[in-house]
Amino acid sequence: MSRPPALTADLEGARPVRLVTPAGAGSLQGREAAWARVNGFEGKPGQLLIVPDEAGEAAAALFGIGQSFEPMTARGLAARLPGGTWRLEGVSKKDGGLAALAFALGSYRFDRYKAQPARELPVLAAPRGVNCEEVNRIASAAALAREMVDTPAADMGPQQIEALARKIAEASNASINVTEGDALLTGRYPAVHAVGRAAAPHRAPRVIEIGWNLKRTELPLVALVGKGVVFDTGGLDIKPAAGMRNMKKDMGGAAHVLALGRLIMQAGLEVRLVVLVAAVENAISADAFRPGDILSSRKGLTIEIGNTDAEGRLILADVLQRAAEHGPTLTLDFATLTGAARMALGPELPPLYTDDEVLAADFLAAARDVADPLWRMPLWPGYRASLDSEIADVRNDSAPWAQAGSVTAALFLQKFAPTTGAWAHLDVFAWNPRNRPGWPEGGEAQGLRAAFEMLSRRYPKGG
Ligand code: BES
Ligand code: MN
Ligand code: ZN
Repeated sequence: MSRPPALTADLEGARPVRLVTPAGAGSLQGREAAWARVNGFEGKPGQLLIVPDEAGEAAAALFGIGQSFEPMTARGLAARLPGGTWRLEGVSKKDGGLAALAFALGSYRFDRYKAQPARELPVLAAPRGVNCEEVNRIASAAALAREMVDTPAADMGPQQIEALARKIAEASNASINVTEGDALLTGRYPAVHAVGRAAAPHRAPRVIEIGWNLKRTELPLVALVGKGVVFDTGGLDIKPAAGMRNMKKDMGGAAHVLALGRLIMQAGLEVRLVVLVAAVENAISADAFRPGDILSSRKGLTIEIGNTDAEGRLILADVLQRAAEHGPTLTLDFATLTGAARMALGPELPPLYTDDEVLAADFLAAARDVADPLWRMPLWPGYRASLDSEIADVRNDSAPWAQAGSVTAALFLQKFAPTTGAWAHLDVFAWNPRNRPGWPEGGEAQGLRAAFEMLSRRYPKGG
């Protein structure tokens, strides 16, 4: 699961990519001006024109940026430039780092199942002042999350997620503890067990817990919690075909927290870290949990099952309670939790939920600065009553009158979230539904870079 880095510190032989505004396109000189004219290059955003030399080799490129350069558009460059080394000409110092990161993000390919490997990828010579290693590290975290999401459920089951978690823990000398199958009952993860028990034995449910720096009790403790539903059939409340088609991505939250955890450890942020993943398959069998069942949870609250397709919040209830037992300063959970989040904000803008005003401000500022957008949504107390059950402590499908499905799912999680510090929940889509250069249809990391930026500002290495 790794490919050569997209960024290099070596400028040797790098050909220029010139950033061109419409005005700039009008004032090109000589043969470049003629070449641009016959090819209809006008400096429009995203326009790309390769300029050949006398031998017909790609010698330079013109990249249209419209009135001003949006660094993230460099994702498209990586997907379209010919192989070999390139450098960005005319990029400001302010935009250089983000443009380089965008280029690295745009180089992601999922070709594990292709007989023919993808064409040679271009490499970018890092703009001056850019920390190549750091940018490559962030891009490779995003690539790990995307690759995990893109990998079909048959090859990304609970076992494979565990194997990846073990590799990540080992590389940073972190501890790892896995509670699997019936041990979930004695280990007090009843909801995780109930949701995952219908799966085949070799795809048994499990809770994966990574711990890093835990002895340094003077440091703040950050807990990352991820939904790892390796495939969501909906359970007995089975999804229709169209709704099930992409449910290999329902472990997107787990992919995000494992990648983010790896990044935090690699960067050496000044925190103690706990990463918790519940990895289960929401399968259908004679032993599947049923509508009307009442589950117990690690916290002790009983949960009436109104719908077996609202399974993410059930497994998160147990692992959020586990996180709470560590007394974290800050807890972040990532989950592909609701279809309703997409009805509210669409596929590109994940809802962020938190009642901590400072965390909300810090998170949103970081998100804006690294072009990894999030939108705050409310933990609206007025809708809490929609989770009331007549015969249990809480129900997993909110009453229809409350309508706001992403909000009520977040309110459900809030009942189990740690209260020793701040908590934030990201309801991520983890997927690009639209195919365009630099943003291939498939897995996407969302809020991962924003979270890392926010954490890096709060807990810098050596800070
Ligand atoms: N994994 C889905 C949510 C989902 C669906 C995320 C499509 C992204 C794209 C989740 O487990 C689910 O099925 N949620 C239900 C909840 C409902 C039954 C209360 C939903 O959103 O419809
Ligand atoms: Mn579901
Ligand atoms: Zn799900």
